[in-house]
Order: sequence, then structure tokens, then C-alpha cells
Amino acid sequence: MRAFALALLMAAPAYAQEAPAGASTCLGCHSPVRSDAAIPTLRGRDAAAVAAAMREFREGRRPATVMDRLARGFTEEESQAIAAWIVR
Ligand code: HEC
Repeated sequence: MRAFALALLMAAPAYAQEAPAGASTCLGCHSPVRSDAAIPTLRGRDAAAVAAAMREFREGRRPATVMDRLARGFTEEESQAIAAWIVR
């Protein structure tokens, strides 16, 4: 997992600099540039809606394949910080 995160950090140095902890890993799946990708981009979304989705994934109230497990790795405060950053 560490190598995975490191590879993503190296792939996105411009984001890694200002990103809250864990946020740059999101970009490995949610591309900030490709709007036609299978996994939707989060750029341009409403930050509160992204944080709410993370909360629902974390609490098992939203169907998921991977996001439930990912979301459980973050607290509510961390999710909000990531959400605010990733929608920019
Ligand atoms: C391993 C790939 C992967 C990573 C890393 C990842 N996601 Fe996801 N994300 C998905 C998939 C796949 C879905 C669709 C739901 C599911 O199957 O779990 C999704 C769905 C979402 C959604 C709901 C989007 C919608 O329109 O319904 C949000 C919000 C989200 N992710 C936020 C994040 C955030 C924030 C991070 C970083 C902490 C993150 N994701 C990291 C794969 C990923």
C-alpha cells in the first residue's frame, strides 16, 4: 500500500504538495482530468456532497465495491479536508 501511494505521489507531484494526508491517493482512481473515465472525476463537485458520500460509504449506507473500505480509513474531519481539496 505504501508503494502504491508513493507511486501516485510521484505521478502527481503538483497535487501532492498541497494535498491533505491521503487525498492524492484518490486521484489514482478518480482522475482529475478525464471526465469520461469509468470512475467519475470529483473535480467540480460540491465539497459537502463528496464529504457526505464518504460518510455514507464509511457507515455502510451507500453501495460500494471499494469506497466503503477506503472511506473507513478516514475520520469525518479528514474526509471533509480531502473533499474540500479534491473538488478544486
Ligand atoms: C481503488 C480506486 C479508488 C480510490 C483510491 C478512491 N476511489 Fe472513490 N470510488 C471508486 C469507485 C470504484 C467508486 C464507485 C463506488 C464503489 O464501487 O465503491 C467510487 C466512488 C466515489 C464517490 C461517489 C461518486 C459518485 O458520483 O457516486 C466519491 C465521493 C468518492 N469515490 C470519493 C473518493 C475519495 C475522496 C477518495 C480518496 C480518499 C477516493 N474516492 C478514492 C474508486 C476509488
